[in-house]
Amino acid sequence: MNSPAPNLPFQRIGVVGSGAMGRGIAQLFAQAGVPVRLYDANPAAVASAIAALHDTFAKLVDKGRLSPDAAQRARAALESVASLEALAGCDLVVEAIVEQLDAKRELFQALEPIVGDAAVLATNTSSLSVTAIAARCRVPARIAGLHFFNPVPLMKVVEVVRAMRTDETAVERLVALVRATGHRPVVTRDTPGFIVNHAGRAYGTEALAALGEGVADVEAIDRILRDQVSFDGNGFRLGPFELLDLTALDVSQPVMESIYRQFYDEPRFRPSVLGAQRLAAGLLGRKSGEGFYRYDAAGARVDARAEPAAPSVSVRPPVWIAPGPRATLVESAVRQLGGVVRNGAAPGEHDLVLVAPLGLDASAASRADAAGIDLPAERVVAIDTLFPIEPGRCRRRVLMTTPLTRSEYRDAAHALFASDGVPVTVLRDSPGFVAQRVIAMIVSIGSEIAQQRIASPADIDAAVRAGLGYPLGPLAMGDAIGAATVCEILGNLQALTGDPRYRTGGWLRRRAQLGLSLLHED
Ligand SMILES: NC(=O)c1ccc[n+]([C@@H]2O[C@H](COP(=O)([O-])OP(=O)(O)OC[C@H]3O[C@@H](n4cnc5c(N)ncnc54)[C@H](O)[C@@H]3O)[C@@H](O)[C@H]2O)c1
Repeated sequence: MNSPAPNLPFQRIGVVGSGAMGRGIAQLFAQAGVPVRLYDANPAAVASAIAALHDTFAKLVDKGRLSPDAAQRARAALESVASLEALAGCDLVVEAIVEQLDAKRELFQALEPIVGDAAVLATNTSSLSVTAIAARCRVPARIAGLHFFNPVPLMKVVEVVRAMRTDETAVERLVALVRATGHRPVVTRDTPGFIVNHAGRAYGTEALAALGEGVADVEAIDRILRDQVSFDGNGFRLGPFELLDLTALDVSQPVMESIYRQFYDEPRFRPSVLGAQRLAAGLLGRKSGEGFYRYDAAGARVDARAEPAAPSVSVRPPVWIAPGPRATLVESAVRQLGGVVRNGAAPGEHDLVLVAPLGLDASAASRADAAGIDLPAERVVAIDTLFPIEPGRCRRRVLMTTPLTRSEYRDAAHALFASDGVPVTVLRDSPGFVAQRVIAMIVSIGSEIAQQRIASPADIDAAVRAGLGYPLGPLAMGDAIGAATVCEILGNLQALTGDPRYRTGGWLRRRAQLGLSLLHED
């Protein structure tokens, strides 16, 4: 047995449960040089985990990612044990057993008399209350959450969960341990979904809401979120429906429903009826061969459709741009694309009328209270300017028509905005297009996490970037767009829909009013 590095906060770690997570956790600690004892109720599971880990170490050596010496040390650090009693002498035990409250409570109650009083007991639960797991323990102060992501060695963030009665020293020791493994610890209060699964609610839920409202089809919504969203050129790697298909609906839908219920039906998390229906139909995603898309046995999509071609138009009407804070931006793009811009207080009789709303739909944006004068709805097309629209700076442009917009004006706008080869998606009329409502909800929920002091702004953003792979954390996203713009989108969404889901929280509003960064710690 090799001895651990002297500066590590724990000298011997027990891992209970040797499934997908337990073996990853054991690997991480063993590679960090801490002796690990791995236990599973099913002895065959431990044996196969140890064999798989030896295999992993060998592969890492082959790829040059681990030195032969380090692999040898990791192998030596790893020990399988056949009983819980063999975990006596561990000063930390991390459990990664089945996700059931009673099973986890019973395990910790059984462990308490085995380990010393100074030992810390941590749970890898994703969805249960750490406080509830600790409640039956003799020393609840030493129980905390240590929430890893799958696959553990590659997902470099770990949520350290401070339950109601967790001792601060336990939190600090776990933070130091995570740091010693090279992962990023983020400290979170024990609230449903902690940081990552809480902050991650907006993306799929809002996309499903847009789908349910008939704004666009699955593929169009995915394309928008993959291509239009751009923070310095970086967007979402997967569209929301691609992501739902990857995680599988039998995993995601229960998480969406449980977070919603645990926050006492908070409208921001209200799941879509579409998700429940699709789950009931067995349309789970990749693993069942069909979800939002269809897949072959190897998991490759079989129903990929080519981008719809831009319409060819013979007449290009002059363009009149409704006044407003975004008009200059639209005018510049139209001119660069070779469009003829008509100036004047009102549009000419045959002009294509462009509006650039934030949080409004094209119909509302063409009425006098938003546009100054009533605009001719049959010639109105809205363009989303939340992300760059100039040639060379965008990968997709998104338009929206009113229910009255005539097809020749829709096609003229589509052809104009596709004339540099950038694909265009045309939506049915809807407040906040797709990107505006999704991004505003990501910022809104991130801000609520900060408001409730579940975690610090820096930890919220770090957790979301590493845990969800977003181009920016929700609060940096808000800063990039401008908190005032986010508030405008949310305010208009709420005004038009009457849905309290879109209400602006006080934390976000105050920062918008004061011109303060959302990453400002107070
Ligand atoms: N899989 C993920 O993506 C993921 C991510 C984060 C957290 N988690 C959480 O991690 C935990 C484990 O998840 P997993 O995916 O590794 O599960 P898994 O089914 O792959 O492995 C669980 C292992 O625990 C063993 N086990 C069950 N009950 C036990 C008991 N009472 N005592 C000892 N061993 C027992 C099983 O034999 C099995 O080997 C769950 O709480 C889960 O919610 C999972």
